Amino acid sequence: MTIFFSRHLLILTTFFFITPSTSSDTLTATQILTTNQTLISQNQTFVLGFFRRSITNYYLGIWYNNITPQTIVWVANRDNPIHNSSGYLKLGDHGNFLLLNSSGNLSWSSNETTAKNPLLQLLDTGNLVLKDSSHTNNNNNYLWQSFDYPTDTVLPGMEIGWNFDTGMEKHLTSWKITGEDPSSGDYTMKLDYHGLPEGFLRRDNQTIIFRAGPWNGEGFSGITAMKDNTDGLKFNFNDDEHGVMYYFTVTKPSLLSRIILTSDGEFERYMWLQASWNKFWYQPGDQCDYYGVCGPYGVCDNNASPNMKLPETANVFVNKSMTLDECESLCKRNCSCTAYANIDITNGGTGCVMWVGQLFDMSVYPSNGQDLYVRLSASDIGTSKNHRVIEAIGITLGALVIVLGLVAICYLRNKRQQRSRGHDSLMNEIYSGGVERNMDDLELPMFDFDTLTMATNNFSQDNKLGEGGFGSVYRGRLIEGREIAVKRLSEDSRQGIQEFKNEVKLIIKLQHRNLVRLLGCCIEKDEKMLVYEYMENRGLDSILFDKSKRALLNWERRFNIIYGIGRGLVYLHQDSRFRIIHRDLKTSNILLDGDMNPKISDFGLARIFDKDEIQTKTLRIVGTYGYMAPEYAMYGKFSIKSDVFSFGVMILEIITGKKNRWFSNDKDEESNLLENVWRHWHKGTVMTLVDPSISNSCTESEVVRCIHIGLLCIQERAEDRPTMSSVVLMLSNEAPSMSNPKSPGFSARKTHSDMDSSSSRQDETWSVNEVTITVLDAR
Ligand SMILES: *[C@@H]1O[C@H](CO)[C@@H](O)[C@H](O)[C@H]1NC(C)=O
Ligand SMILES: *[C@@H]1O[C@H](CO)[C@@H](O)[C@H](O)[C@H]1NC(C)=O
Ligand SMILES: *[C@@H]1O[C@H](CO)[C@@H](O)[C@H](O)[C@H]1NC(C)=O
Ligand SMILES: *[C@@H]1O[C@H](CO)[C@@H](O)[C@H](O)[C@H]1NC(C)=O
Ligand SMILES: *[C@@H]1O[C@H](CO)[C@@H](O)[C@H](O)[C@H]1NC(C)=O
Ligand SMILES: *[C@@H]1O[C@H](CO)[C@@H](O)[C@H](O)[C@H]1NC(C)=O
Ligand SMILES: *[C@@H]1O[C@H](CO)[C@@H](O)[C@H](O)[C@H]1NC(C)=O
Ligand SMILES: *[C@@H]1O[C@H](CO)[C@@H](O)[C@H](O)[C@H]1NC(C)=O
Ligand SMILES: *[C@@H]1O[C@H](CO)[C@@H](O)[C@H](O)[C@H]1NC(C)=O
Repeated sequence: MTIFFSRHLLILTTFFFITPSTSSDTLTATQILTTNQTLISQNQTFVLGFFRRSITNYYLGIWYNNITPQTIVWVANRDNPIHNSSGYLKLGDHGNFLLLNSSGNLSWSSNETTAKNPLLQLLDTGNLVLKDSSHTNNNNNYLWQSFDYPTDTVLPGMEIGWNFDTGMEKHLTSWKITGEDPSSGDYTMKLDYHGLPEGFLRRDNQTIIFRAGPWNGEGFSGITAMKDNTDGLKFNFNDDEHGVMYYFTVTKPSLLSRIILTSDGEFERYMWLQASWNKFWYQPGDQCDYYGVCGPYGVCDNNASPNMKLPETANVFVNKSMTLDECESLCKRNCSCTAYANIDITNGGTGCVMWVGQLFDMSVYPSNGQDLYVRLSASDIGTSKNHRVIEAIGITLGALVIVLGLVAICYLRNKRQQRSRGHDSLMNEIYSGGVERNMDDLELPMFDFDTLTMATNNFSQDNKLGEGGFGSVYRGRLIEGREIAVKRLSEDSRQGIQEFKNEVKLIIKLQHRNLVRLLGCCIEKDEKMLVYEYMENRGLDSILFDKSKRALLNWERRFNIIYGIGRGLVYLHQDSRFRIIHRDLKTSNILLDGDMNPKISDFGLARIFDKDEIQTKTLRIVGTYGYMAPEYAMYGKFSIKSDVFSFGVMILEIITGKKNRWFSNDKDEESNLLENVWRHWHKGTVMTLVDPSISNSCTESEVVRCIHIGLLCIQERAEDRPTMSSVVLMLSNEAPSMSNPKSPGFSARKTHSDMDSSSSRQDETWSVNEVTITVLDAR
């Protein structure tokens, strides 16, 4: 009876509290926050309030104010929801605040503090802080802050890592189901400070899924997409006696960006651009990222030019003030030394990290990695002297030898285990074993040959839409009326049926509004076919280069096309589960739907056709004159940056309405579009090149910005070209700054001598079977 009475009293007393007025950002000791109320930060960026998941679970959390779908960045009582909507939040008696359910029982509370007059405030950064209102002057001295208790999201300014002074450790723990169930999930991302500090993504607190690689001054060496300032972000890392912390800031205040650890164990960066969340990178990104795939000493090589993710550093010698020379001599004097490197690659390189014992989990990246000096025994490098030597070699030349050697070791090791095992079955294995994802969980939609024969009227010439590098495309109509496009692959795909199916399963998973949807395939009678959705307005080239139709594309539509292609490429390059390099981007591979929205077609086909080769180089160059990056056309070296080049060419074509041609006769200066644009750019007269049919509908500043971006994309050196995510930022005018373009690659005269022996076909798909590749003379 007494208990009932006192409980009743408690409920009554709560109603004597005032509730905060709408759009207030603070809660004082005399106020409570009920489930139907919120605190909104001063400039309206973030909201603190209650959200509901499943039917009866209420959580206190923080989310973005004006963003749909609701994007939650912090949860207080993630493992202890309130089950009735009458719960509330109030400040407690011990300088803390409490979350209570309707019968007054505690669901969650913040740590006790010394605050005499506690005050809760939601800041514009998304940080919920507890202050003592009797000390008004020390503004930033928070007694408690939500940034100290991250859930699955890192916001700008939020630190992850260790504070040695307070003994506090901050890490991420995924939701049980991202977006649905906020309770603590299986994955954690923690900074480890033994040896050189680095981040580890683990499952169940044990199994290491991914290692971010040590901090090298610019970013974690294992996250290549992390590059200072290119994406409007600045990364920071503190490593001193007070603590080891990672945090990032945005260079442009209006830019919203967050990193999240998902319930699938992925570490993803999102940016809010053009009213939606864009995934800018994620880790683990490709098969090399999975921890220790190649075993000790194995180097996983994803792409062309070599830059290293440093080996695991839990067991190393570290001295931050030593120079590289001192580091080398230390390594020479110590018989167990296996490798050494700089700690920080900025300012010409400082510090010494030395490995003893096995080198584990290294990767090679196309850019933004760093030099690792590996000690080799004499026999390893083929001399007959029997003492061990140090090969301290510059990365561009020497490390390549090592890398190739190690790749070979890794390759042979795998080969021994399973004769026919190539890159893809390795990936299968990772997916079905290590990471518990199975390629076979997806039903592959199969069409039968007769259906497609009927739909395309026996592949009649009338239904032929075009001919590309990989085969012919036919228009078709299924019996139920649906229109399709059927790609009949040419014979020279040497792939086995199972491999082909695996590839198709992979491509079918790639879904994005700027990619043509693959509906299924057909494997019958020695034929392989792919079935796509049909695009009403066909190829961009058929409208852009047609005098009577080009006016259909006003500037707004053209910009929308450029932006859409950019987004599709970001998805292929870094957003989808597998990094896809298109390798044959051109206007005829951009299809337009009924509303002139662009969709990239033929993506992923390069994978189907190039099986038996290492990814760094190709024996068979697929591509189209006019769109090929110089390093690809001449040496067969391809990377995401060769796609960026083709994209740049397309931007310029879309704006000028002119086709880029390579094999012009020398008198006709005008016909090399790239050179022409470059010349006018310097004279400040690029606007004269704009297609007359858009001159009324366009804004000069926008057009100039797009041309600028186009020129950045076609720069001669692949390293100078921006990544597609930077390009998309620049297109949405969110990039902090744009550099001046350097000279474009492949200007007409240079190519002449290189390519004279080839034919003079224009705009045709080109394939050469025996291009000599000289990987070693990368300089
Ligand atoms: C919440 O629980 C209280 C006490 O059990 C009850 O009086 C109230 O009706 C419930 N509210 C709702 C919305 O279920
Ligand atoms: C909010 O909830 C409280 C109690 O739970 C109730 O008294 C009040 O009327 C509600 N306000 C609104 C606007 O629904
Ligand atoms: C409040 O929480 C207590 C303890 O967790 C629980 O026993 C009680 O049923 C809850 N009350 C309501 C109305 O959910
Ligand atoms: C809930 O709160 C009441 C009174 O506030 C208390 O008597 C009861 O033991 C609490 N129940 C739980 C499960 O903590
Ligand atoms: C704060 O409280 C949490 C649990 O609510 C506890 O794990 C943590 O150690 C506390 N932190 C400090 C600094 O007391
Ligand atoms: C991981 O460790 C934390 C604390 O050490 C524990 O609360 C949590 O339940 C563990 N998670 C798993 C999946 O074992
Ligand atoms: C709100 O404030 C934060 C932090 O001061 C700032 O980064 C952000 O740009 C502001 N947002 C707006 C919309 O003004
Ligand atoms: C080599 O370096 C390691 C790591 O610093 C150290 O433990 C070991 O004693 C050294 N060995 C010699 C022979 O100096
Ligand atoms: C690091 O190396 C420098 C230069 O060799 C030396 O003076 C310093 O004592 C070393 N520091 C540690 C902690 O070993």
